[in-house]
Amino acid sequence: MKNIYLETYGCQMNEYDSELIRSILAKNQYQIVNSQEDAQVVLLNTCAIRENAHQKIFHRLDELKGMKRRGEVEAVGVLGCMAQSLRKDLADRSPIVDIVAGPDSYKKLPNLLKAVFESASKGYDFSLSEFETYADITPKRIAGVNAWLAIMRGCDNFCTFCVVPYTRGRERSRTVESVLNEAHRIESEGFKQVTILGQNVNSYKSDGNDFADLMQTLATETSIPRIRFTSPHPKDFPRRLLHVIADNPSLCKQIHLPLQAGNDDVLQRMNRTYTKKEFYTLVDEIRKIIPDVALTTDVIVGFSGETEAQFEDTFEVMQNVRFDSAFIFKYSERKNTIASRKIPDDVPEHAKTERIVRLNELQRRISNEINQTEIGKKATVLIESQSKKDANQWLGRTDQNKGVVFSAEAKKPGDFVDVEIIRATTNTLIGEMIPQKKRSLNLLSL
Ligand code: 5AD
Ligand code: SF4
Repeated sequence: MKNIYLETYGCQMNEYDSELIRSILAKNQYQIVNSQEDAQVVLLNTCAIRENAHQKIFHRLDELKGMKRRGEVEAVGVLGCMAQSLRKDLADRSPIVDIVAGPDSYKKLPNLLKAVFESASKGYDFSLSEFETYADITPKRIAGVNAWLAIMRGCDNFCTFCVVPYTRGRERSRTVESVLNEAHRIESEGFKQVTILGQNVNSYKSDGNDFADLMQTLATETSIPRIRFTSPHPKDFPRRLLHVIADNPSLCKQIHLPLQAGNDDVLQRMNRTYTKKEFYTLVDEIRKIIPDVALTTDVIVGFSGETEAQFEDTFEVMQNVRFDSAFIFKYSERKNTIASRKIPDDVPEHAKTERIVRLNELQRRISNEINQTEIGKKATVLIESQSKKDANQWLGRTDQNKGVVFSAEAKKPGDFVDVEIIRATTNTLIGEMIPQKKRSLNLLSL
């Protein structure tokens, strides 16, 4: 029997996939261990979305090379998006790699491991499936406050910059019944929050049910206190979903809405299929129907052909929309994508750097201004963990997914606590617990 140490890189979908992998391996008599020293096999579940994700893994493989030479590790596997993207080239470039397996190949891992240990051969599998949803696998979750739940896999949008359609294949949805069964299991295991995952959740469809139907079903049929989802695409955001969110208290009032760019020519080159005007209209509608919503986004700067003036448009949209927070990336060309074949990565590195610095500065200012307006407001916070900076304080999140640090005795992760926001920084709110008595008095005085 071999012990396996699994490391996860990248997005929440990968976190979820690692839970599937743990489950598949545990069912096949492999022991998953929490420390690398106890393991004979190291598996890396990887990301391919930007070049630095690859660099991180190659750096890690260099470390593992020495360990393998010294006999501290017997086998190394690379799984996930980078494995699917580089395939055999990965093992050619890094010969210590024994297993390379893509996101649709996890059920084959026990056999691939067997091949490595019993016939000293390498184990590769890159078959992408039109049907694999892993609906029959119960993820082996790590106990905590939040549970991930993938309702679909793959992406058919083919944004020209994005490698995901090539690493995760075609879009496929799980049935409502299988999603609901898993949600019930999550509920019975005591998780206080579930985050619904999909590369583009708006495309969810199963037996005549769309994503808004699914969210309504989850809100009605389960009593999980907080239900989040990520990510929707602005091009086909179901308007009915806004009413479903507004009407159901367990559906969190926070939407991650990837803008990517604020200029119509750039959006067209990216194949995002919406315009700046359509994006503004969507934001207006969201805010009209869910007035207290928090909006977050992803933006890419320096995409192929982006001029200074086109970047200024993105800057202006960020200024006007005033997202609560944003992830901003420099464009990095990915193998196989439409952009890598047809739209040269021609924005100089210094221009990308300048633009990301400017946009980050703007966003930090906006986030800070928005957070300052939270001071004096009350919020219900779900405790997640101890604060990293001060073990005597808790870190929790509001419904809008804002981090709040506060102290409270006799509380633990998973508890809901009412706080008043007393201070705010760019990234964090600082709260004070509202004592029960004071709270009921306040309610009476209403
Ligand atoms: N270069 C830079 N950022 C990218 N993203 C996706 N592909 C690329 C790329 N080639 C960003 C997008 C996406 C987020 C997950 O990563 O903003 O929404
Ligand atoms: Fe990539 Fe676009 Fe699909 Fe998102 S929607 S995963 S950015 S192709």
